[in-house]
Amino acid sequence: MSATKARLGVNIDHVATLRQARGESYPSIVDAANVCLGNGADQITIHLREDRRHIQDTDVEAVRLVTKKFGKPLNLEIGVDPEIVDIAIATAPDWICVVPEKREEKTTEGGLDLKSSENFEKVKNACSLLKEKIPGVKISLFVEADEETLRKCKEIPCDAVEIHTGDFARAHLNGEDTEGFIDQFRQSKKLCAELGLGHHAGHGLTHDSVAPLVKEELFIEYNIGHWIICQAVFDGLAKVVSNLKEAI
Ligand code: PXP
Repeated sequence: MSATKARLGVNIDHVATLRQARGESYPSIVDAANVCLGNGADQITIHLREDRRHIQDTDVEAVRLVTKKFGKPLNLEIGVDPEIVDIAIATAPDWICVVPEKREEKTTEGGLDLKSSENFEKVKNACSLLKEKIPGVKISLFVEADEETLRKCKEIPCDAVEIHTGDFARAHLNGEDTEGFIDQFRQSKKLCAELGLGHHAGHGLTHDSVAPLVKEELFIEYNIGHWIICQAVFDGLAKVVSNLKEAI
């Protein structure tokens, strides 16, 4: 493993997905945040989507209280919709990760398109407003490991980029050659160091696919969600069934 410890942000959106599927009050997002931070997570990441498919407005404040209790950062992922930006301002998280958002997508499907001048202006304006209204907030931009895009990030008030690792992670899962992706990440790490931007990673990562990235110390932060919640099912299912069988 690496000499410099990278940070692990645990994305707990899919605890809320399970809750919303039944409209019950469980599983509790607050309990999830407590368990993650109580077991070594360096930050909690949540995505307040415009369609509120998982995280709800009340969850944001509730999770904020847990992260404050632990003295650990809350990383709030948002699109640049003005209503969501206002909620981010009211919440005043430690970090905000700006992501592209489409209602019809299953999950965030790629990085911000900053080559479109319309998008660039929208993201720049949102980041300027967030920096103005939330003293000390840090901002990361979710982008592809692409030189032109990374250089554009430098023209926006932000502190880091979160590189989209979804395509790499899928290739890894399929047993395909991932050297091309790794090489892109090496280049983006180098460029971010020159530009003075933090180099974070997120999307689609698993215990196995994160390993080569950690080994080469390619990123200083990893935000991982879906796989953690999926794996937690199997790490907990045997215990839950045997406890219930005892009770019955
Ligand atoms: N980072 C960003 C910007 C994301 O949009 C997501 C998904 O919400 C994640 C990280 C976590 O991705 P996953 O759930 O696939 O691990």
